[in-house]
Amino acid sequence: MTATIIDGAAVAARIRAEVAAQVAAMQSAHGIRPGLATVLVGDDAPSQSYVRMKHKACEELGIASFRHELPADATQAQVEGLVAELNADPRVHGILVQLPMPKHLNEEAVLNKISIEKDVDGFGPVNIGRLAMKGRDPLFIPCTPHGVIVLLEEAGAVFEGANAVVLGRSNIVGMPAALLLIERNATVTVCHSRTRNLPEVCSQADILVSAVGRAEMVRGSWIKPGAIVIDVGTNRVDDPGAKRGYRLVGDVAFDEAKEVAGAITPVPGGVGPMTIAMLMKNTLRGAELTIPATSEAH
Ligand code: GUN
Repeated sequence: MTATIIDGAAVAARIRAEVAAQVAAMQSAHGIRPGLATVLVGDDAPSQSYVRMKHKACEELGIASFRHELPADATQAQVEGLVAELNADPRVHGILVQLPMPKHLNEEAVLNKISIEKDVDGFGPVNIGRLAMKGRDPLFIPCTPHGVIVLLEEAGAVFEGANAVVLGRSNIVGMPAALLLIERNATVTVCHSRTRNLPEVCSQADILVSAVGRAEMVRGSWIKPGAIVIDVGTNRVDDPGAKRGYRLVGDVAFDEAKEVAGAITPVPGGVGPMTIAMLMKNTLRGAELTIPATSEAH
């Protein structure tokens, strides 16, 4: 059996086209141009590259973007002061503080400062709290886990009663992905570095989401035949033959897994493009939240 390859790049392109059309419609109907502000502290190269891609996407979709960079030795007060300014700026509908920040900064305190109506990453305590509670809706769903769910839907996943296994319990991906799967009535197991018999746990999964950041850790033999596999890992491995001296691989040994799974995302071209597409969608939503409600019946 050879798995269906889930084309994240194509799904992301479709979502971006929809957002671009809605951005244009919002401008003509309400005179509002959605705006995203990014805050990058320090000079971490991968973070710089992610932030660059986010601004490029804004430009392509007609979203205004405001780029703020602070030095690696910025103080807590400086970062929080910048967030406060962005909270008060009416041109800004979404604030994204790129993570990780330098170690001396208190990430939680910074994220707590972002206004809930502009928390397009969905990492603030109110948004995550609502995500974790039954019957409460967050204003924004974290981008990568939301992208994971959209790709599962794209692959025809049946969530209700499915065994879903999430590898990794990070704040950014694993934990919110698990919460989104629970919300859809899957039976969810969250695995981490202390989990016993990992291959056996994975082999029970109808839906397997891996977000651990370990190159090709998940072997084909761990996968239940026909399972849907979403690989969030983006790991650099040395490759002297490649132009940059490395290539990107996922957490899943793709060539083995595709012979067993029913559907699988590739790396690159799977989850990666979805993160930015969902961020653009959340920024549009942030702008929508500022449209005054009218008394007209809809
Ligand atoms: N670092 C890695 N992924 C993300 C993300 O989705 N948002 C932010 N702010 N930082 C990240």
